Amino acid sequence: MSNEPLVLGIETSCDETGIALVRGRTLLADTVASSVDEHVRFGGVVPEVASRAHLEAFAPTLRRACADAGVSLSDVDAIAVTAGPGLAGALLVGVSAAQGLALALDRPLYGVNHLAAHVAVDRLVHGELPEPAIALLVSGGHSSLLSVRDITSDVEPLGATLDDAAGEAFDKVARLLGLPFPGGPAIDALAREGDPDAIAFPRGLTLPRDEVDHRHDFSFSGLKTAVVRWIDACRREGREIPLADVAASFQEAVADVLVRKAIRACRDEGIDTLVVGGGVAANSRLRALLDDRAEGLRVRIPPARLCTDNGAMVASLGAVLVERGVAATPLGLGADSSLPVDVVLAGR
Ligand code: KG4
Ligand code: ZN
Repeated sequence: MSNEPLVLGIETSCDETGIALVRGRTLLADTVASSVDEHVRFGGVVPEVASRAHLEAFAPTLRRACADAGVSLSDVDAIAVTAGPGLAGALLVGVSAAQGLALALDRPLYGVNHLAAHVAVDRLVHGELPEPAIALLVSGGHSSLLSVRDITSDVEPLGATLDDAAGEAFDKVARLLGLPFPGGPAIDALAREGDPDAIAFPRGLTLPRDEVDHRHDFSFSGLKTAVVRWIDACRREGREIPLADVAASFQEAVADVLVRKAIRACRDEGIDTLVVGGGVAANSRLRALLDDRAEGLRVRIPPARLCTDNGAMVASLGAVLVERGVAATPLGLGADSSLPVDVVLAGR
């Protein structure tokens, strides 16, 4: 057996209880218990419901991860947990559990940044992350362009969304179209039957003056309002709403801006590796557009199941921290719901 360290990764920042085991770069187990079904009727994640679900799911998910990997807890060399950003109560469940395990097993604890973990997961699939890299992180809570010089210590934001996150825009527009939550997969599926050029929806922050003030930033709330107006106009005029065309045209507007700005950030910074992560990275149109347009760049996107929240991403970042000899986080670390993106390791 390899003597690389065995790292347990724990993720509870939103509605997925993710627990995984990674040895070096090998993913031994990745178990996810999602409470998404409990949030569907509310049309979004309800923090208290998510926290309770994490509490109930934690122990069985941990047991399943160990069984899948064929290891026992005493084999674990280090524990990594998402310390933030995320929902405070949800984060607290994972952080408290990780503290308990670290104390009981007498192993080092790493409280890591959720966004850096979304970037780090790719090394499990495509090999060690080239540094420097540009990362496009697009999820339900975040849309950021990051300059990653060192995934353990030097992650700088280049830009972020000024309003809605990309995934949030998918979720809100899906609701308008009468599609289920979470909206991303539903819009992705419906859009396959629609025409992406049917409606010219606006591309946020791409006007010439934005190129100066908000070159690497995003904005999706204007797009969402444009979809609302377009649907209202249809209703007023008694026209049937072409749902698939609206889905395809909306998705095109989001994917177009994300891809355009991500590729331009690489060119601006003179960096030829682009890593894409977060739930929206599962989007088929985003992936296809990157394929079409990223000539000369190495684009790394993990498979869809590793784009949405999971424990593997946390274990993967933990494994890099351990390998590079980074000192562990003090055992008394707290959860930080608004942990800044450039703080890879909490408490530093
Ligand atoms: O990374 P993630 O699992 O959780 C957060 O950290 O937020 O991302 C969830 C988001 C949701 O907004 C969901 O609608 C979106 O990712 N999403 C997608 C797709 N699959 C998930 N958006 C577009 N296309 C998809 N195929
Ligand atoms: Zn996430």
